Amino acid sequence: MSELSVNHLLGIKYLNKKDIELIFETADHFKEVINRPIKKVPSLRDITIANLFFENSTRTKLSFELAEKRLSADVINFSASQSSVKKGETLIDTVNNILSMKVDMVVMRHPNPGASVFLSQHVSASIINAGDGAHEHPTQALLDSYSIRERLGEVSGKNVVIVGDILHSRVALSNIYALKLQGANVMVCGPKTLLPKHIDKLGVKVETNLRKALNWCDVANMLRVQNERMEISYFPSTREYTQQFGVNKTLLDSLDKKITIMHPGPINRGVEITSDVADSKQAIILDQVQNGVAVRMAVIYLLASKIKQ
Ligand code: NCD
Repeated sequence: MSELSVNHLLGIKYLNKKDIELIFETADHFKEVINRPIKKVPSLRDITIANLFFENSTRTKLSFELAEKRLSADVINFSASQSSVKKGETLIDTVNNILSMKVDMVVMRHPNPGASVFLSQHVSASIINAGDGAHEHPTQALLDSYSIRERLGEVSGKNVVIVGDILHSRVALSNIYALKLQGANVMVCGPKTLLPKHIDKLGVKVETNLRKALNWCDVANMLRVQNERMEISYFPSTREYTQQFGVNKTLLDSLDKKITIMHPGPINRGVEITSDVADSKQAIILDQVQNGVAVRMAVIYLLASKIKQ
């Protein structure tokens, strides 16, 4: 039986192409399961998973929790805002306390880049990174590629542009690694101030003209401006950002071909995309959310099967 090359999912950087293929094949199976009248399988009845969220989340937290429950795992949830972290406890102490209650796997979102790698070196549980600062968000990139594969048949050879705040986005970095691994052509597009200086070293094209980027691509992944990670202003005003980097229906309809629109959520409607684009047939934003559960089930299942050995 095939298995993942890793014991944790810390970032796409640590995966190989075969890992991604295995995750997608497993997700295909779970997608079929969650569309059945009884949406549950008993696979992980003996596994306990802790969801540790040190940063806000709606979609990702619900998606992980649902994925775990559909696999029949026992689940405990922890939010930093309601915990002893506020009383000065260290990350390792917090997690070791939780692990002493016999937890097998930890899903963690944390504001510090590298937090999940650090944790994987200090505790015995299997760790899944659910977003570490502006670094990586591997399950988001996996569900994004899975959704492209579902809509366009394959990821290899497709032109994908990631638009917006690349500098502060963990979704961008994980997507770049995942798309390149699968043989897609990747471009980033945004205001110069929101594009990391040496981003081209990752083998991506760089464009500051949105119309040119959209005319080149098959898929545009529209990112939110991460205001919470900015201490200074990176562009003159939201209105100006929207004029230059927002996608509206007139722009979409004026392109040479019908492109696919993606967004990891949460959407700021009217800023990076207008409502009529977000709700159009070309957008696969809600498919991404639905696929997120199947892809996370696949990741959890494959990592759990390594624990059991
Ligand atoms: C993203 C995140 O948290 O990095 N959202 C998500 O996980 N669905 C993107 C964002 O916050 O803009």
